[in-house]
Amino acid sequence: MFSHAGGGSLTWCFLVLLLPLLGSALSHKSEGALTVVEDADGGGGGGVGGDEEEDAVEVFQPNEQWQTLKPGQAVPAGSHVRLNLQTGEREVRLGEEQLKYWTQEHREGEKSTAAIDPDELKRAMKKIKEDLRSQDSKPSGFRPLEELKKDMAELDLLVETDVQIMRRLLDQFNSSDTTTEQRLAILQELEYLVHQVDNAQTLCSMGGLSLILGGLNSSDVRLQENAAFVLGSAVASNPVVQVQAVEGGALQTLLTTLATTQPLHVKKKVLFALACLLRHFPYAQHHFLSHGGLQILSELFRADAGGILRTRIVTMLYDMISEKELIFQAGLDAVQDPSHKERQRQYAEVSLQDQLMEKGWCRLVPQLLQSTEHDYREKALRALLAMASVCLDQYRSDSSLLGSLHSLRLQYSELIQSEMILGEESGYFAEMVELIDSLQVKVK
Ligand SMILES: *[C@@H]1O[C@H](CO)[C@@H](O)[C@H](O)[C@H]1NC(C)=O
Ligand SMILES: *[C@@H]1O[C@H](CO)[C@@H](O)[C@H](O)[C@H]1NC(C)=O
Repeated sequence: MFSHAGGGSLTWCFLVLLLPLLGSALSHKSEGALTVVEDADGGGGGGVGGDEEEDAVEVFQPNEQWQTLKPGQAVPAGSHVRLNLQTGEREVRLGEEQLKYWTQEHREGEKSTAAIDPDELKRAMKKIKEDLRSQDSKPSGFRPLEELKKDMAELDLLVETDVQIMRRLLDQFNSSDTTTEQRLAILQELEYLVHQVDNAQTLCSMGGLSLILGGLNSSDVRLQENAAFVLGSAVASNPVVQVQAVEGGALQTLLTTLATTQPLHVKKKVLFALACLLRHFPYAQHHFLSHGGLQILSELFRADAGGILRTRIVTMLYDMISEKELIFQAGLDAVQDPSHKERQRQYAEVSLQDQLMEKGWCRLVPQLLQSTEHDYREKALRALLAMASVCLDQYRSDSSLLGSLHSLRLQYSELIQSEMILGEESGYFAEMVELIDSLQVKVK
């Protein structure tokens, strides 16, 4: 029996984890060891005592580029922090507000505009408040009122909410004066924002979805790529946005783009968006199948000799098969949940397995075993197992598949042997042998 739990999920539609820190004016040390440093006077009374408090922590100075954060380093509040899943490291760069504040307030007289000093920021904010106070007490203030108003306006910008930022970005994106370069920058900013569930929903209610689909439909491949990235991030794990996206025609636009766009990196992002749109959404999966989605994927699969698209396609199919299986294997407690019956009903309409067989996938997926990448082969093996119930007859008559299984088993057994000689853990290769064994048992 093949377990879905082992080896972690194959899902690749969640690439970036974001830690939303916007607007937080608190300093905390969590078990996650990410420390956020205040960027503003915490609203307390006029005391001066706060200046020494972060002496103990090393504050990392973000700039416009993503930079790796070392363990124990703190970041100024408002910074963008993400987890790089490839390296496992945290990365940081200036947040939108910080960038704006920095460029508008400190443009003159600074040696480096690339680095922001949280202490500097703090002092600047205090100074403005002090200036205001002295304006109150001394009629002949040091600074003209107009200048103070300007400072206050910039303070407002500093606390511009995500909703305001998105409204401004969408208006800019929609303006005919905006250049392609600016649109690309806007899409990157939106991509960051929509990782938050509420932000993605707000973006939809502002009409942002149609602008993003317009970008996907664009003749500029850079706009296509970035629009696909925003769309994928917005729908990932966000059922409300998934529904709106499908209602807004996203599925059709994604399939059309996938079938027509040329560059590999664009196809990758479009496939990412498609996978996120279909994930845990049987209604979209049903329409994907009835709109010829598998046909488009099989053309993509055949044309992709390098294997990166192949493995992503196979992973996506595997995810769909296994999520449906899990719905029908659910335990008693789930069955008592009234929405569970409805989910089962919806999944029952997704005739994925039959279509996979009809459209030739029983012969296509084994081709991925010929890859030299262990990871690609692993994904192929898992998908082959998941498809076995409909593909078994075809596997049995596929001499190339049977040969691959035989030689891969030999190869992984040897790898296990040589790792044992070296005294290393061989967990991964042992798992590969187990997968091959399970498949061979079925095929016999
Ligand atoms: C874009 O502009 C058009 C016309 O100027 C307007 O009708 C539409 O609502 C705008 N879309 C968004 C999302 O702001
Ligand atoms: C994409 O372009 C096609 C034809 O160029 C058009 O029919 C369709 O409405 C467009 N879709 C979107 C979402 O802009």
